[in-house]
Amino acid sequence: MPAVQRSDGSSDGIGTVAQGSGDRSRIVVTGKGGVGKTTLAALLARTLARRGQTVLAVDADAQMNLAWALGMPPSEAAAIVPLSDNADYVEEKTGARPGSGWGMLLRLNPQADDAVERFSVRAPDGVRLLVMGSLHQAAAGCLCPENTLLAGAMAAIALRPGELILMDTQAGLEHFGRALARGFGQALVVTDPSFNGVSVALRTAHLAADLGIPTVHLVVNRVRGPKDVDRVEGYLHGADAGTRPAFASRHLLPEDERVLVAEPAVDGLLDGMVSPFGAAVSDLADSLALIARGVG
Ligand SMILES: Nc1ncnc2c1ncn2[C@@H]1O[C@H](COP(=O)(O)OP(=O)(O)OP(=O)(O)O)[C@@H](O)[C@H]1O
Ligand SMILES: [Mg+2]
Repeated sequence: MPAVQRSDGSSDGIGTVAQGSGDRSRIVVTGKGGVGKTTLAALLARTLARRGQTVLAVDADAQMNLAWALGMPPSEAAAIVPLSDNADYVEEKTGARPGSGWGMLLRLNPQADDAVERFSVRAPDGVRLLVMGSLHQAAAGCLCPENTLLAGAMAAIALRPGELILMDTQAGLEHFGRALARGFGQALVVTDPSFNGVSVALRTAHLAADLGIPTVHLVVNRVRGPKDVDRVEGYLHGADAGTRPAFASRHLLPEDERVLVAEPAVDGLLDGMVSPFGAAVSDLADSLALIARGVG
Protein backbone atom coordinates (compact mmCIF):
# COMPACT_ATOMS: atom_id res chain seq x y z
CA MET A 1 0.00 0.00 0.00
CA PRO A 2 1.53 3.34 -1.00
CA ALA A 3 2.45 5.77 1.73
CA VAL A 4 0.71 9.05 2.37
CA GLN A 5 3.17 11.87 2.49
CA ARG A 6 2.55 14.56 5.05
CA SER A 7 3.71 18.11 4.60
CA ASP A 8 6.41 17.41 7.18
CA GLY A 9 7.72 14.58 5.01
CA SER A 10 6.60 11.73 7.28
CA SER A 11 4.21 9.09 6.04
CA ASP A 12 1.73 6.61 7.44
CA GLY A 13 0.77 4.30 4.62
CA ILE A 14 -2.95 5.12 4.63
CA GLY A 15 -5.08 4.55 1.58
CA THR A 16 -4.57 3.88 -2.07
CA VAL A 17 -3.47 6.29 -4.75
CA ALA A 18 -6.19 7.73 -6.93
CA GLN A 19 -5.70 7.49 -10.65
CA GLY A 20 -6.51 10.37 -12.95
CA SER A 21 -5.26 12.62 -15.66
CA GLY A 22 -6.47 16.06 -14.57
CA ASP A 23 -4.40 19.19 -15.11
CA ARG A 24 -2.47 19.89 -11.91
CA SER A 25 -2.58 23.62 -12.60
CA ARG A 26 -6.32 23.43 -11.93
CA ILE A 27 -6.93 23.31 -8.22
CA VAL A 28 -10.34 22.96 -6.59
CA VAL A 29 -10.96 23.86 -2.93
CA THR A 30 -13.73 21.84 -1.35
CA GLY A 31 -14.97 20.53 2.00
CA LYS A 32 -17.71 20.94 4.61
CA GLY A 33 -19.49 24.26 5.07
CA GLY A 34 -17.70 26.93 7.08
CA VAL A 35 -14.31 25.22 7.38
CA GLY A 36 -12.37 28.04 5.69
CA LYS A 37 -12.49 27.21 1.96
CA THR A 38 -13.03 30.77 0.76
CA THR A 39 -10.44 32.23 3.12
CA LEU A 40 -7.92 29.63 1.97
CA ALA A 41 -8.72 30.02 -1.75
CA ALA A 42 -8.35 33.80 -1.54
CA LEU A 43 -5.11 33.73 0.42
CA LEU A 44 -3.59 31.08 -1.85
CA ALA A 45 -4.59 33.09 -4.93
CA ARG A 46 -2.96 36.27 -3.65
CA THR A 47 0.12 34.47 -2.31
CA LEU A 48 0.71 32.67 -5.62
CA ALA A 49 0.11 35.86 -7.62
CA ARG A 50 2.71 37.66 -5.50
CA ARG A 51 5.13 34.91 -6.47
CA GLY A 52 4.66 35.64 -10.15
CA GLN A 53 2.02 33.08 -11.07
CA THR A 54 -0.89 34.14 -13.23
CA VAL A 55 -3.87 33.18 -11.12
CA LEU A 56 -7.49 32.83 -12.16
CA ALA A 57 -9.69 32.61 -9.07
CA VAL A 58 -13.07 31.06 -9.83
CA ASP A 59 -15.99 31.58 -7.49
CA ALA A 60 -18.29 28.60 -7.92
CA ASP A 61 -20.21 29.23 -4.69
CA ALA A 62 -23.70 30.69 -4.99
CA GLN A 63 -22.88 32.95 -2.02
CA MET A 64 -20.32 34.67 -4.24
CA ASN A 65 -18.07 35.97 -1.47
CA LEU A 66 -14.66 35.30 -3.00
CA ALA A 67 -14.40 38.87 -4.30
CA TRP A 68 -14.64 40.18 -0.74
CA ALA A 69 -12.12 37.65 0.54
CA LEU A 70 -9.70 38.63 -2.23
CA GLY A 71 -9.90 42.19 -0.94
CA MET A 72 -11.72 43.84 -3.83
CA PRO A 73 -13.19 47.23 -2.97
CA PRO A 74 -16.84 46.71 -1.91
CA SER A 75 -18.23 48.84 -4.75
CA GLU A 76 -16.36 46.76 -7.36
CA ALA A 77 -17.31 43.48 -5.70
CA ALA A 78 -20.96 44.48 -5.61
CA ALA A 79 -20.90 45.44 -9.30
CA ILE A 80 -19.79 42.02 -10.55
CA VAL A 81 -22.36 40.35 -12.77
CA PRO A 82 -21.90 36.58 -12.46
CA LEU A 83 -21.46 34.63 -15.65
CA SER A 84 -24.78 32.81 -15.13
CA ASP A 85 -26.62 36.16 -15.17
CA ASN A 86 -25.17 37.28 -18.46
CA ALA A 87 -28.31 36.30 -20.34
CA ASP A 88 -27.08 37.39 -23.75
CA TYR A 89 -23.85 35.49 -23.34
CA VAL A 90 -25.65 32.37 -22.16
CA GLU A 91 -27.99 32.56 -25.16
CA GLU A 92 -25.16 33.28 -27.58
CA LYS A 93 -23.25 30.24 -26.40
CA THR A 94 -25.96 27.72 -25.64
CA GLY A 95 -28.87 28.82 -27.80
CA ALA A 96 -31.19 29.29 -24.83
CA ARG A 97 -31.81 32.07 -22.36
CA PRO A 98 -31.18 31.49 -18.62
CA GLY A 99 -34.17 29.91 -16.94
CA SER A 100 -35.57 28.52 -20.17
CA GLY A 101 -33.58 25.39 -20.65
CA TRP A 102 -35.86 22.59 -19.62
CA GLY A 103 -36.96 20.55 -22.57
CA MET A 104 -35.07 22.71 -25.04
CA LEU A 105 -32.37 21.45 -27.27
CA LEU A 106 -29.19 23.01 -25.97
CA ARG A 107 -25.87 23.19 -27.66
CA LEU A 108 -23.82 21.03 -25.39
CA ASN A 109 -20.14 21.75 -24.82
CA PRO A 110 -20.48 25.41 -25.80
CA GLN A 111 -17.29 27.05 -26.94
CA ALA A 112 -16.99 29.48 -24.06
CA ASP A 113 -13.25 29.96 -24.09
CA ASP A 114 -13.68 33.72 -24.17
CA ALA A 115 -15.45 33.81 -20.79
CA VAL A 116 -12.32 34.77 -18.86
CA GLU A 117 -11.41 37.54 -21.27
CA ARG A 118 -14.91 38.97 -21.35
CA PHE A 119 -16.14 38.52 -17.81
CA SER A 120 -13.28 38.16 -15.36
CA VAL A 121 -12.44 41.16 -13.18
CA ARG A 122 -9.17 42.26 -11.72
CA ALA A 123 -8.61 41.66 -8.01
CA PRO A 124 -5.61 42.80 -5.89
CA ASP A 125 -2.12 41.50 -6.75
CA GLY A 126 -3.24 40.95 -10.35
CA VAL A 127 -5.47 37.97 -9.56
CA ARG A 128 -8.24 37.55 -12.16
CA LEU A 129 -11.62 36.62 -10.74
CA LEU A 130 -14.41 34.85 -12.60
CA VAL A 131 -17.69 34.61 -10.71
CA MET A 132 -19.81 31.74 -11.94
CA GLY A 133 -23.05 32.65 -10.17
CA SER A 134 -25.85 30.58 -8.81
CA LEU A 135 -26.16 27.12 -10.16
CA HIS A 136 -29.33 25.20 -10.75
CA GLN A 137 -29.12 22.20 -8.47
CA ALA A 138 -32.64 20.91 -8.94
CA ALA A 139 -31.40 17.71 -10.47
CA ALA A 140 -28.06 16.09 -11.03
CA GLY A 141 -27.20 16.37 -14.70
CA CYS A 142 -29.57 19.31 -15.20
CA LEU A 143 -29.22 20.66 -18.71
CA CYS A 144 -30.33 24.21 -18.00
CA PRO A 145 -28.40 26.70 -20.12
CA GLU A 146 -26.45 28.34 -17.29
CA ASN A 147 -25.12 25.02 -16.09
CA THR A 148 -24.17 23.94 -19.57
CA LEU A 149 -22.40 27.22 -20.11
CA LEU A 150 -20.55 27.25 -16.81
CA ALA A 151 -19.23 23.72 -17.21
CA GLY A 152 -18.33 24.49 -20.82
CA ALA A 153 -16.56 27.69 -19.84
CA MET A 154 -14.56 25.93 -17.16
CA ALA A 155 -13.50 23.13 -19.48
CA ALA A 156 -12.60 25.52 -22.30
CA ILE A 157 -10.15 27.64 -20.32
CA ALA A 158 -6.72 26.82 -21.66
CA LEU A 159 -3.75 27.42 -19.37
CA ARG A 160 -0.21 28.30 -20.33
CA PRO A 161 2.83 27.43 -18.18
CA GLY A 162 2.83 29.51 -15.00
CA GLU A 163 -0.94 29.93 -15.02
CA LEU A 164 -3.14 28.44 -12.34
CA ILE A 165 -6.84 28.13 -11.63
CA LEU A 166 -8.03 28.12 -8.02
CA MET A 167 -11.72 27.31 -7.72
CA ASP A 168 -13.68 27.94 -4.53
CA THR A 169 -16.77 25.76 -4.25
CA GLN A 170 -19.77 25.54 -2.03
CA ALA A 171 -19.76 22.80 0.57
CA GLY A 172 -19.17 19.36 -0.87
CA LEU A 173 -18.60 18.41 -4.46
CA GLU A 174 -22.19 17.53 -5.20
CA HIS A 175 -24.05 17.74 -8.48
CA PHE A 176 -22.85 20.69 -10.44
CA GLY A 177 -19.63 21.20 -8.51
CA ARG A 178 -18.57 17.89 -9.95
CA ALA A 179 -19.22 18.97 -13.51
CA LEU A 180 -17.17 22.09 -12.90
CA ALA A 181 -14.24 20.24 -11.36
CA ARG A 182 -13.89 17.78 -14.22
CA GLY A 183 -10.38 17.98 -15.63
CA PHE A 184 -8.94 19.43 -12.42
CA GLY A 185 -5.65 17.94 -11.26
CA GLN A 186 -5.46 18.94 -7.60
CA ALA A 187 -8.12 19.06 -4.91
CA LEU A 188 -7.71 20.68 -1.52
CA VAL A 189 -10.15 18.92 0.76
CA VAL A 190 -10.51 21.24 3.74
CA THR A 191 -11.75 20.20 7.16
CA ASP A 192 -11.72 21.50 10.69
CA PRO A 193 -10.72 19.12 13.48
CA SER A 194 -14.32 17.93 13.97
CA PHE A 195 -15.75 14.47 13.35
CA ASN A 196 -18.27 15.89 10.87
CA GLY A 197 -15.62 17.83 9.01
CA VAL A 198 -13.40 14.78 8.63
CA SER A 199 -16.35 12.59 7.61
CA VAL A 200 -17.27 15.03 4.85
CA ALA A 201 -13.60 15.27 3.87
CA LEU A 202 -13.37 11.49 3.47
CA ARG A 203 -16.49 11.40 1.31
CA THR A 204 -15.35 14.38 -0.72
CA ALA A 205 -11.95 12.84 -1.33
CA HIS A 206 -13.68 9.82 -2.86
CA LEU A 207 -15.80 12.07 -5.09
CA ALA A 208 -12.65 13.88 -6.19
CA ALA A 209 -10.94 10.59 -6.99
CA ASP A 210 -14.01 9.39 -8.89
CA LEU A 211 -13.76 12.53 -10.99
CA GLY A 212 -10.24 11.53 -11.93
CA ILE A 213 -8.50 14.21 -9.87
CA PRO A 214 -5.09 12.62 -9.38
CA THR A 215 -3.75 14.66 -6.45
CA VAL A 216 -6.00 15.11 -3.43
CA HIS A 217 -4.61 16.96 -0.40
CA LEU A 218 -6.10 17.02 3.07
CA VAL A 219 -6.02 20.44 4.72
CA VAL A 220 -6.88 20.51 8.40
CA ASN A 221 -7.74 24.09 9.31
CA ARG A 222 -8.32 25.74 12.68
CA VAL A 223 -5.89 23.47 14.49
CA ARG A 224 -5.48 24.63 18.10
CA GLY A 225 -2.76 22.21 19.16
CA PRO A 226 -1.54 18.60 19.27
CA LYS A 227 -4.85 17.33 20.67
CA ASP A 228 -6.65 18.48 17.53
CA VAL A 229 -4.05 16.71 15.39
CA ASP A 230 -4.47 13.50 17.40
CA ARG A 231 -8.25 13.77 17.15
CA VAL A 232 -8.11 14.05 13.35
CA GLU A 233 -5.64 11.15 13.17
CA GLY A 234 -8.10 9.11 15.21
CA TYR A 235 -11.00 9.91 12.89
CA LEU A 236 -8.90 9.07 9.83
CA HIS A 237 -7.72 5.77 11.26
CA GLY A 238 -11.25 5.01 12.46
CA ALA A 239 -12.44 5.04 8.86
CA ASP A 240 -12.71 1.62 7.29
CA ALA A 241 -9.21 0.84 5.97
CA GLY A 242 -10.55 -0.51 2.68
CA THR A 243 -12.44 2.67 1.91
CA ARG A 244 -9.93 5.24 3.13
CA PRO A 245 -9.11 7.67 0.36
CA ALA A 246 -5.56 8.51 -0.54
CA PHE A 247 -4.28 11.94 0.39
CA ALA A 248 -1.19 13.01 -1.50
CA SER A 249 -0.25 15.23 1.43
CA ARG A 250 -1.62 16.66 4.65
CA HIS A 251 -1.35 20.24 5.76
CA LEU A 252 -2.17 21.73 9.12
CA LEU A 253 -3.35 25.35 9.30
CA PRO A 254 -3.53 26.90 12.77
CA GLU A 255 -6.49 28.57 14.39
CA ASP A 256 -5.51 32.23 14.15
CA GLU A 257 -7.47 35.12 15.54
CA ARG A 258 -5.95 37.35 12.88
CA VAL A 259 -8.11 35.58 10.29
CA LEU A 260 -11.19 36.86 12.09
CA VAL A 261 -9.70 40.31 12.60
CA ALA A 262 -8.84 40.52 8.89
CA GLU A 263 -12.37 39.59 7.71
CA PRO A 264 -13.80 39.74 5.17
CA ALA A 265 -10.52 40.17 3.25
CA VAL A 266 -7.25 38.28 3.59
CA ASP A 267 -5.06 41.36 3.22
CA GLY A 268 -3.91 41.28 6.84
CA LEU A 269 -2.68 37.70 6.46
CA LEU A 270 -0.33 38.08 3.55
CA ASP A 271 2.66 38.84 5.70
CA GLY A 272 3.63 35.44 7.09
CA MET A 273 5.76 37.15 9.74
CA VAL A 274 2.69 38.30 11.62
CA SER A 275 0.16 35.58 10.83
CA PRO A 276 0.75 31.90 11.64
CA PHE A 277 -2.16 31.05 9.30
CA GLY A 278 -0.55 33.13 6.54
CA ALA A 279 2.79 31.39 7.08
CA ALA A 280 1.21 27.92 6.84
CA VAL A 281 -0.74 28.89 3.71
CA SER A 282 2.49 30.21 2.21
CA ASP A 283 4.07 26.75 2.61
CA LEU A 284 1.00 25.14 1.08
CA ALA A 285 1.20 27.56 -1.87
CA ASP A 286 4.79 26.48 -2.46
CA SER A 287 3.94 22.81 -2.64
CA LEU A 288 0.90 23.36 -4.88
CA ALA A 289 2.99 25.42 -7.29
CA LEU A 290 5.69 22.74 -7.40
CA ILE A 291 3.13 20.03 -8.15
CA ALA A 292 1.53 22.25 -10.82
CA ARG A 293 4.95 22.55 -12.46
CA GLY A 294 5.36 18.80 -12.33
CA VAL A 295 8.20 18.83 -9.80
CA GLY A 296 6.25 18.12 -6.60
N1 LIG B 1 -7.55 29.36 10.67
C1 LIG B 1 -8.59 30.11 11.07
N2 LIG B 1 -8.58 30.71 12.29
C2 LIG B 1 -9.64 31.44 12.69
N3 LIG B 1 -10.75 31.66 11.95
C3 LIG B 1 -10.81 31.08 10.73
C4 LIG B 1 -9.74 30.29 10.23
N4 LIG B 1 -10.09 29.86 8.99
C5 LIG B 1 -11.31 30.37 8.73
N5 LIG B 1 -11.76 31.10 9.78
C6 LIG B 1 -13.06 31.76 9.87
O1 LIG B 1 -14.07 30.80 9.68
C7 LIG B 1 -15.20 31.36 9.03
C8 LIG B 1 -15.56 30.57 7.79
O2 LIG B 1 -14.54 30.75 6.83
P1 LIG B 1 -14.86 30.69 5.27
O3 LIG B 1 -15.97 31.60 4.90
O4 LIG B 1 -13.56 30.84 4.56
O5 LIG B 1 -15.37 29.18 5.17
P2 LIG B 1 -16.06 28.45 3.94
O6 LIG B 1 -15.65 27.02 4.05
O7 LIG B 1 -15.75 29.15 2.68
O8 LIG B 1 -17.59 28.61 4.29
P3 LIG B 1 -18.85 28.29 3.31
O9 LIG B 1 -18.98 26.79 3.29
O10 LIG B 1 -20.00 28.97 4.00
O11 LIG B 1 -18.53 28.87 1.97
C9 LIG B 1 -14.83 32.81 8.74
O12 LIG B 1 -15.36 33.61 9.75
C10 LIG B 1 -13.31 32.80 8.78
O13 LIG B 1 -12.76 34.05 9.14
MG1 LIG C 1 -17.00 29.86 1.17
